[in-house]
Amino acid sequence: MTNWSARSWRDKPIQQQPNYTDPDQLKTVEHQLKTYPPLVFAEEIRALRTQLGRVSQGKGFLLQGGDCAESFADFNAPKIRDTFKVILQMAVVLTFAGSCPVTKVARMAGQYAKPRSSDLESIDGVELPSYRGDIINGSEFTSAARQPDPQRMMQAYHHSAATLNLLRAFAQGGLADLHKVHKWNMSFVAANPLKDQYLKVAEQIQSALKFMEVMGITAETNATIHETQLFTSHEALLLPYEEALTRTDTLTGLPYDCSAHMVWIGERTRQLDHAHVEFMRGIHNPIGVKIGPTTKPDDVIHLLDALNPENEMGRMTLITRMGAGNLADALPALVRRVKAEGRHVVWSSDPMHGNTVKAENGLKTRNFDAIHQELRQFFAVHQAEGTYPGGVHLEMTGEDVTECTGGAYQISEQDLTQRYRTQCDPRLNADQVLELAFLVADSLREARQGRG
Ligand code: PEP
Ligand code: CO
Repeated sequence: MTNWSARSWRDKPIQQQPNYTDPDQLKTVEHQLKTYPPLVFAEEIRALRTQLGRVSQGKGFLLQGGDCAESFADFNAPKIRDTFKVILQMAVVLTFAGSCPVTKVARMAGQYAKPRSSDLESIDGVELPSYRGDIINGSEFTSAARQPDPQRMMQAYHHSAATLNLLRAFAQGGLADLHKVHKWNMSFVAANPLKDQYLKVAEQIQSALKFMEVMGITAETNATIHETQLFTSHEALLLPYEEALTRTDTLTGLPYDCSAHMVWIGERTRQLDHAHVEFMRGIHNPIGVKIGPTTKPDDVIHLLDALNPENEMGRMTLITRMGAGNLADALPALVRRVKAEGRHVVWSSDPMHGNTVKAENGLKTRNFDAIHQELRQFFAVHQAEGTYPGGVHLEMTGEDVTECTGGAYQISEQDLTQRYRTQCDPRLNADQVLELAFLVADSLREARQGRG
């Protein structure tokens, strides 16, 4: 890697960063974070890269999801557990439908920094810096809260560590045991219109497990029945933090950003000659890039040249976020070009960020049908182009929130105020995720026909 260091991004123009008023305080925090233990190990990061390499070959599926923005205030075990469960629940449905391994990547344990469309927010004539995520400033509309504070990076680190600790415990301590699948789903699906469909999948799993047991494959002889693997991810937006957690792996001598297994660059910060692309090109994590509706085929190729010059498998995930009305026009040319050039990528669909609208009462929302439509079109385009739809990227929570309209429970715009709790963008709730899982399952089954 030529002319790269974990701090070479500092010589480039940069978007979406806070203005810290006390540079000494910032430096102190950065130095401290550099001495702290990494949050994840390079070996785990390589395992994810290997899995994503298989996904890019059509031999798996990527499920990435979680909060738009995690928050320090809303930091508790039930919330982490419920989001973990709903990711697993969706993964089980997809594994069964696709007859393929599903790689689970949570938008958790570090998803604390947000790009904003405006630097300032104004309410009733008062203008303050926009909220940029808990790692940067507070969401309350006061000038004290909106002041960027470097100490928040320390808080984000500790919150991420505690979240990761619990996720690892859940993943390995028995909560993900396939034998318990129908126990842990019950509280979720009890009143859900899709309950029967879900229970059918659970029953099929039970009989498959029974069969394997007879053949001598049990939780005791095979850990995968009892455990699962959940990776973490976030948008690598706040580069002083990402730099401080970048470590040279002793085994390979290569730099990894050990703040999460996978990190991505947002649609707003992926300029080729800017700081985020510079930082990301040197770390060896699998990385995502968000691709919006105005992206040209050349833009994608230039990004791939910069971020994956050796065309390595498992390195790049292109996360398209086009909007239901744009995808069918915008995606085919990109897919065709990437295919023609023989580039290895995982194509993943974020059906959330292109479908954000304002409800009449002013709340940001997304409609379930638009989300579903974008996903359907994503699968259809790949079907038509002979490429593989490798994943989905969702903003979702295990909580019973009312943030996205529609779905089987017909959440209306008027219902939104009942339990609207997001720090930032509207998320699918547990019921809506389950419903989407079944809808995606049908598309995935079709996409996988004829594949090994
Ligand atoms: C996000 O994923 O929360 C986000 C801000 O996405 P995008 O960069 O695609 O707008
Ligand atoms: Co968002």
